[in-house]
Amino acid sequence: MSTTSDTMVRFRDVTKVFGTGPSAVAAVDGVTLDIEAGEIFGVIGYSGAGKSTLVRLINALEPVTSGSVVVDGDEVSALSERELRPVRASIGMIFQQFNLLSSRTVAGNVAYALKVAGWDKPRREARVAELLEFVGLSDKAKAYPSQLSGGQKQRVGIARALATSPKLLLADEATSALDPETTRDVLALLRRVNAELGVTIVVITHEMDVVRSTCHRVAVMEHGKVVEVGEVYDVFSSPRATATKKFVGTALRDRPGPEALERLRRRHPGRLVTVGVHEDGTSGASLTRLLREHGLDGSVVFGGISEIGERPFGSLTLELAGDDATIAAFLTELAATTDVVDLGTAADPRDDPRVVAGASDESGEADDVTGAPPSGRADEPDPRDAWQSERWPGTGSTGISGLGRPGTQGTQPGDFGNEPGTFGGER
Ligand SMILES: Nc1ncnc2c1ncn2[C@@H]1O[C@H](COP(=O)(O)OP(=O)(O)OP(=O)(O)O)[C@@H](O)[C@H]1O
Ligand SMILES: [Mg+2]
Repeated sequence: MSTTSDTMVRFRDVTKVFGTGPSAVAAVDGVTLDIEAGEIFGVIGYSGAGKSTLVRLINALEPVTSGSVVVDGDEVSALSERELRPVRASIGMIFQQFNLLSSRTVAGNVAYALKVAGWDKPRREARVAELLEFVGLSDKAKAYPSQLSGGQKQRVGIARALATSPKLLLADEATSALDPETTRDVLALLRRVNAELGVTIVVITHEMDVVRSTCHRVAVMEHGKVVEVGEVYDVFSSPRATATKKFVGTALRDRPGPEALERLRRRHPGRLVTVGVHEDGTSGASLTRLLREHGLDGSVVFGGISEIGERPFGSLTLELAGDDATIAAFLTELAATTDVVDLGTAADPRDDPRVVAGASDESGEADDVTGAPPSGRADEPDPRDAWQSERWPGTGSTGISGLGRPGTQGTQPGDFGNEPGTFGGER
């Protein structure tokens, strides 16, 4: 019998090996992890990291090689097929390719899940109507899957997965086949499923945007191992694992890569530094103030501030003008509240960019936001050209992406990018 607990899914030293001998692959390798009831938990990792295998262990579609998996009190890794049936019925699943029955209507697809579960027709019909209403597809009840857009198909997939009121929903790359706008709609629906129905959701994805707009906590997987886990803001604002750093770098594109840095140096011969902007550290306003206090000129030549779960996060790369001693004093003070990377100058580049060591990471200096920073400072060279020419590969934008938590509007492109030097992305 299942017992209630605050932990919905508990992995203890779980390993899943495919194959034997030299060709054996540890798809999941010694994972210990708790997914709490009521949360939206993200599992992110590159292709082959073991994400899908990990979720398939939750509903025991794959048996574990060793270790234990407990779902809401039931040790699924120790149950027989027969004993697994009721447990599986309490777990919904949605897929990248929707997996709808093409010969059945929208209503028929949702009803089918109930038929399998033994519901009689009148109950089925009432439940289907209720579910289609919830996912906003009441008018498509009689349509066939081939007549639906990808987003509508995934809504049917969600309605079907919710049919028997599962307590847990597994979403494996559920938005990977959808365009960005449709992805946002489907993610908003998943957030409603979590908030209004109290369903715990495990979101498997290789897209950081999905995690930061939707998940409360996240685990980062690499080579079958969970290399990092925690609150989404904490994990992405201070990434420790290489894989996490890569996700943050490719999603935010707020720090110049080697090629962009080369272009920056050609355009801006002065001292370049990259400064992290965090909720608890340096803000655009405190950066402006510090520049002023040290009598330095600094112009923004690269960067972006966006949000992770409504909290500001990103970095700015500045070209500083001033003598070396003044710059050194400025950087030391700045490094007490945020991460600072010294990129050197065009004439004396730091090819291995040096992290400026802070006096203390715990200095706790508050962001003294002294009103809006002066905009369009006359003493700053206008870096507008840099903003316009530094296009981030693959995004076609200037790297400031709109983000936000459920139902909120994030920072818009232009909040920052159109007003270089004003730190307009600051809250
Ligand atoms: N049934 C299987 N038989 C053999 N090897 C498998 C099987 N399923 C997965 N693997 C291997 O296990 C590893 C993890 O695969 P998995 O599908 O879990 O990765 P993933 O993180 O979901 O990747 P993707 O992002 O591409 O979906 C891979 O090396 C894969 O080849
Ligand atoms: Mg997968």
